[in-house]
Amino acid sequence: MKFSIKSGNPEKQRSACVVVGVFEPRKLTEAAEAMDKIAKGYISGILRHGDMEGKAGSTLLLHNVPHALCERLLLVGLGKEREFNDKEYRDAVRAAFKALHETGATDAILYLTEIPLKKRDAAWKTSQTAIVALESTYRSDRLKSKPGESKPHLREITLGMTSTAESASSEEALQQGLAIAHGMNLAKDLGNLPPNICTPTYLAQQAVNLAKTYKLKATILEQKDMEKLGMGSLLSVARGSRQPAKLIALEYRGREKMEKPIVLVGKGVTFDTGGISLKPAAEMDEMKYDMCGAASVLGTLAAIAQMRLPINVVGIIPTTENMPGGNATKPGDVVTSMSGQTIEILNTDAEGRLILCDALTYAERYEPEAVIDIATLTGACVIALGHVASGLLSNDDELAQELLLASEQAVDRAWHLPLWDDYQEQLKSNFADMANIGGRAAGTITAACFLSRFTKKYRWAHLDIAGTAWKSGKDKGATGRPVPLLTQFLIKRAAQGVKKAKEAS
Ligand code: BES
Ligand code: MN
Ligand code: ZN
Repeated sequence: MKFSIKSGNPEKQRSACVVVGVFEPRKLTEAAEAMDKIAKGYISGILRHGDMEGKAGSTLLLHNVPHALCERLLLVGLGKEREFNDKEYRDAVRAAFKALHETGATDAILYLTEIPLKKRDAAWKTSQTAIVALESTYRSDRLKSKPGESKPHLREITLGMTSTAESASSEEALQQGLAIAHGMNLAKDLGNLPPNICTPTYLAQQAVNLAKTYKLKATILEQKDMEKLGMGSLLSVARGSRQPAKLIALEYRGREKMEKPIVLVGKGVTFDTGGISLKPAAEMDEMKYDMCGAASVLGTLAAIAQMRLPINVVGIIPTTENMPGGNATKPGDVVTSMSGQTIEILNTDAEGRLILCDALTYAERYEPEAVIDIATLTGACVIALGHVASGLLSNDDELAQELLLASEQAVDRAWHLPLWDDYQEQLKSNFADMANIGGRAAGTITAACFLSRFTKKYRWAHLDIAGTAWKSGKDKGATGRPVPLLTQFLIKRAAQGVKKAKEAS
């Protein structure tokens, strides 16, 4: 789909479909009003007959509206004006696209971004419109024997604005929205691929492809490289698998060499059987999503590279399968991590932290400004926060606040959990420096406590995305989260960096 912004009045548009909003009960927005006026009350007449109340999510498609230049007019219900908020805005855009996809229209112009929204500007509405629109066209049908069957007709989307005042910031916002949607799609594609295709080797190949497309620097560490570095913890997870483990590093330089990078570390377990501590059979297929942290790192790098964001970012992805086998790690095994700290593995299903800890130590060599790891780490996080919010834990309150702000802006929720030292004692081991599990209580926090022992040298935050990275049930699939949160965080950081550099010169 192609997107553009155009200023002009709705009644002047020769489009296959003009889209305008209607509040409940039967209150026309400005754009709807303008259409009604040239149609000499045709639209308000239809509403008066009771064909549309304006309920949130409802739509009404009209053909041959008198005196209109467009082929179709789509009315979108916005709900009550007083209650019109972020969620209602996104729902309205989603409903509009659902209805548009059911028509034969190949282009459409939307007049929704000027509808007033508490706390949000036109730029926000513009980028959200692009994201929701592209989400509506996402399909994961590559592996069906007849792919592309449900491909939408819609090819050109115009965001109509009656004033030109905000058009420069809206253009930038549009590009940001498109980049975020692109990154989300990439993350969804990787997440949705089956584990027989999306192996550690496949992920490494995707990283190399991304590096070629966007001129990034890719480094792939093989098993023997990791052995040399002493990554005994990461390698202990890979022991049961036939697929070789990899450590991927991707460097994006949007600023001069000097500036310290933000490092993103993504858990890339391409299939998590639990290892010798085998998981139950039910829904085990969903453990193909255990590389969604890695996918979100690749998606975010694609998004910022597409925008040419002026910031330095490094993506690090430890990737392996977690399988049982004759050579697999056993409960009770003690391994030595790259940091030198020893770990008693009491449960081989707590493998995410075992691969992340070595990747986090490896991150030190980039002298990071901050490190953020993203992982489908604990079932406990799904119990605590459900599928709504990602868990956020950090050794730096300022960084945590910054991420929360980005999450709010991007409508990609996260919730701050405590990382008090009081929880550390749950990781005590009689035989090693620490155990890899901390018991049932506060499972998300003790997992983060484990990671915190490897992140003492820099500002660090951890996002547990076990509940947010994919959906189960009939709409099973990867969500592309938290690409919006991470990209928004980096957009803001980049802007601050540019501002600081200007002030200094
Ligand atoms: N990948 C899982 C976490 C997970 C579970 C994500 C369910 C999404 C849904 C992780 O590797 C894991 O197995 N964690 C264990 C840790 C436990 C053994 C301490 C868990 O959460 O059960
Ligand atoms: Mn596991
Ligand atoms: Zn896992």
